[in-house]
Amino acid sequence: MSNTISIAIDGPSGAGKSTLARSISRKLGYLYVDTGAIYRTIGYYVFSKHLDPRDPEAVVSALPEISVSMRYEEDGLQHMLLNGEDVTAKIRLPEISMYASAVSAHPAVRVHLLEMQRALAREHHVVMDGRDIGTVVLPDAQVKIFLTATPEVRAHRRMVELEQRGTPEPYEKVLEDIRQRDWNDTHRAAAPLRQAEDAVLLDTTKLDFQQSEEALLCIIRKKIKER
Ligand code: DC
Repeated sequence: MSNTISIAIDGPSGAGKSTLARSISRKLGYLYVDTGAIYRTIGYYVFSKHLDPRDPEAVVSALPEISVSMRYEEDGLQHMLLNGEDVTAKIRLPEISMYASAVSAHPAVRVHLLEMQRALAREHHVVMDGRDIGTVVLPDAQVKIFLTATPEVRAHRRMVELEQRGTPEPYEKVLEDIRQRDWNDTHRAAAPLRQAEDAVLLDTTKLDFQQSEEALLCIIRKKIKER
């Protein structure tokens, strides 16, 4: 049994998981693991090969050609390597979100990536964010948080983020994509997005970044003290 501490943060896209998880991991001195980036890397490969991300056979037969690894650089960023190439920036292109969501629905893809995620949590104290961390990847995590906000607020935050990245998209399109991804991620049979029974719900609709971070740290401190 591992004696590392794991903080699992799950929730829909745009709830603020990655920004908050990155920031609290720095404060706690834990490793931040963005599992969405791992699915995005598979999605990017499928996109670059012009495969249909919803076709299980096409995606599964591509898996042996895909080697995904991660590297933490001095900038503190989790860099994603796809067959040795750094694809950290490419996986953030707006069209890759839907590819990641589609490929992540195939059970074989999830199994393929499971051990990589668990190994990181065995070796480090982690803040890991995703959709199924508290339910499937790390069911024994000491702290589980389900982070959410209304689709409208999440779409607005995502729109600002896309603008800052230099890939702006109109609000209506971003909102439609968020709703579509919410539906995909919660309705798939394999490890759907849902709140673990022992997760604490944190709704950030009315909270700014600092308030959300304080609320998150408060939940974490309380849970770790209770152990
Ligand atoms: O967090 P993100 O938006 O970068 O994730 C991209 C997609 O990857 C998301 O729509 C669903 C999938 N995903 C998943 O199925 N399981 C995870 N643990 C993380 C992401």
